[in-house]
Amino acid sequence: MPKVTFIHGDGTRLKIEASVGETVLELAHEYGVDLEGACEGSMACSTCHVIVDEGFFDLLEAPSEDEEDMLDLAFGLSLTSRLGCQIVITDVLDGIVLRVPAGSRNALLG
Ligand code: FES
Repeated sequence: MPKVTFIHGDGTRLKIEASVGETVLELAHEYGVDLEGACEGSMACSTCHVIVDEGFFDLLEAPSEDEEDMLDLAFGLSLTSRLGCQIVITDVLDGIVLRVPAGSRNALLG
């Protein structure tokens, strides 16, 4: 099972074993990680924003245009930012580290 590490805004780490095929957002909710995901994966909120470890960023499928538009609205955007609801766990991602930004902005609320 691929291992995924979340680093919370306060620096604490949580290493978990993920199932192939689930999204980072689903995983975060399963383990109580503070990743809101207000629109439940319909790419309308950006509250599932995570910052991906550089070494793994290029292994991810390229973001869709909709994802990029939504990321533009995300709080604390970085060069390796992605939407957690769009990252599907695969074996290739074993060991991935994801940083949860200290804040988020919900585009649904404006
Ligand atoms: Fe809203 Fe990912 S959950 S964009």
